[in-house]
Amino acid sequence: MVRPFLNYLLHGGTSLKNYWFAGLAAIGLLVGCSGSGDTASGAGEGGGETKPAATVAYADVQSILTENCAGCHGETNPKEGINLTSYANVMKGGHEGTIVKGGDVDGSLLARVLRGKQAKQMPPGGPIAEDKIAKIEDWIKSGAKE
Ligand code: HEC
Repeated sequence: MVRPFLNYLLHGGTSLKNYWFAGLAAIGLLVGCSGSGDTASGAGEGGGETKPAATVAYADVQSILTENCAGCHGETNPKEGINLTSYANVMKGGHEGTIVKGGDVDGSLLARVLRGKQAKQMPPGGPIAEDKIAKIEDWIKSGAKE
């Protein structure tokens, strides 16, 4: 039973042998695809949720804060206790607690006030330039590092 079949495979049945081969290849492809497909989609989803933010140096953020905020949130008598003159002070926050949550723009008061998502829009005179807001958001998204 087996022998003639093997003989057929080895000698006569070129087309059958090809099917057999194609079948194996297809199974291999399926297994390979589902394996790599999982990792690929996993990475894809992760990438979609936490869109990688451009890396922003804290120095760039500080210069925006110094220029637009430190007049009222400086060393002496800062509004709400929020001192925006250095990384340590920014991370310390104010009377109500921290204002920056690394990786969480919407959870960061510092970002929310810039877009007027808070009762108090900051600066009170009107929003700063969009690219500056985006820069601060990207800095928070990428972990709010010094
Ligand atoms: C003209 C003064 C002034 C400037 C400029 C200013 N702030 Fe303020 N800020 C205040 C005052 C006053 C408060 C306290 C809330 C209030 O009474 O309006 C405050 C409160 C805040 C709060 C707390 C808001 C809350 O809901 O608790 C944050 C955060 C803040 N400022 C961030 C900033 C940032 C960031 C900038 C610069 C982009 C800035 N501020 C510029 C005056 C200022």
